Amino acid sequence: MSQPASAMILSADPAAIARAGRVLAEGGLVAFPTETVYGLGGDATSDAAVAAIFKAKGRPSFNPLIAHVSGLDQAAALVEFNGDAHRLAERFWPGPLTLVLKRRPDSPVSLLASAGLDSVAVRMPDHPVALALIRAAGRPLAAPSANRSGRVSPTRAEHVAQCLEGRIAMVLDGGPCRVGVESTVLDLSEQPPTLLRPGGVTAEELEAVLGHPIRRALETPDAPRSPGQLESHYAPALPVRLDAAGAEPGEALLGFGPASDCVLNLSPKGDLSEAAAHLFAMLRALDRPDYRGIAVMPIPEKGLGLAINDRLRRAAAPRDKQK
Ligand code: TXA
Ligand code: MG
Repeated sequence: MSQPASAMILSADPAAIARAGRVLAEGGLVAFPTETVYGLGGDATSDAAVAAIFKAKGRPSFNPLIAHVSGLDQAAALVEFNGDAHRLAERFWPGPLTLVLKRRPDSPVSLLASAGLDSVAVRMPDHPVALALIRAAGRPLAAPSANRSGRVSPTRAEHVAQCLEGRIAMVLDGGPCRVGVESTVLDLSEQPPTLLRPGGVTAEELEAVLGHPIRRALETPDAPRSPGQLESHYAPALPVRLDAAGAEPGEALLGFGPASDCVLNLSPKGDLSEAAAHLFAMLRALDRPDYRGIAVMPIPEKGLGLAINDRLRRAAAPRDKQK
């Protein structure tokens, strides 16, 4: 049964959120907006719903999912909070920070969602639609980014419909995502705290609250701590070339800062927040067969630039490493 893409997109008004909550409570899948990217949500406590998420995404089941909650109490029923977790949640929740913590013995989160690990990733998103939906569903929602595995993450409802049409019940449309790159993933289940994925909250901000340095465990290709650290990811169909001074023949240039002859510019004024918000939508827009490749100008490796460069390096990584 195929429907036009628009038929599965519902404007996220209270009636649509209530309906989506019922779909989720019955084990169905709903894509919804967060401040980072759109998520593909299902009941985090249901093995069947979580299995359906892995299937719809085409995601390897060894790569665990984040349980999204609408408050600290709900999170504390899933994982063992410690002092660092309390401090960080108090400062950054709701917001783009995912905490990996030890699973509580009585945690209702499906073991499939955490890929059999003894930890569970939890996050409280900073988006009114996401929070209302979690409350309407009455349970934590497992939600990876709402794209097919390995592809560019969606920052608009239309992006979700383009890649998951026919695979999920509906997409709640809450407009474009404000942050534009995924949450920071910090592992607090062991000492020292380890940054598994740079994202919307910067490492510097985390260290300022913790009062001590965190370990940057990004990319140890042979033994990824976060199973999601597969090298090629976020990949458009076209090859991506980084640190480009200009475009070669046939390439589309994606600019940053003052630049001439770029096709699109992540932020003409060189603002990293603006660049993050534009990143995935612009990669999609340039991913067209009339170009031979996408060349991207250098992005400073500081603050949000770490998350942007992480996504760009994966977009540019050799595709045979993609799983
Ligand atoms: O911003 C975001 O985090 C978005 C929105 C929808 O909330 N979600 C998202 O989910 O990016 P996903 O599944 O695409 O990425 C989750 C990351 C993966 O790298 C996964 O390996 C890691 O979190 N992760 C999840 N549970 C983990 C665990 N128990 N231990 C270590 N890493 C974990
Ligand atoms: Mg993802």
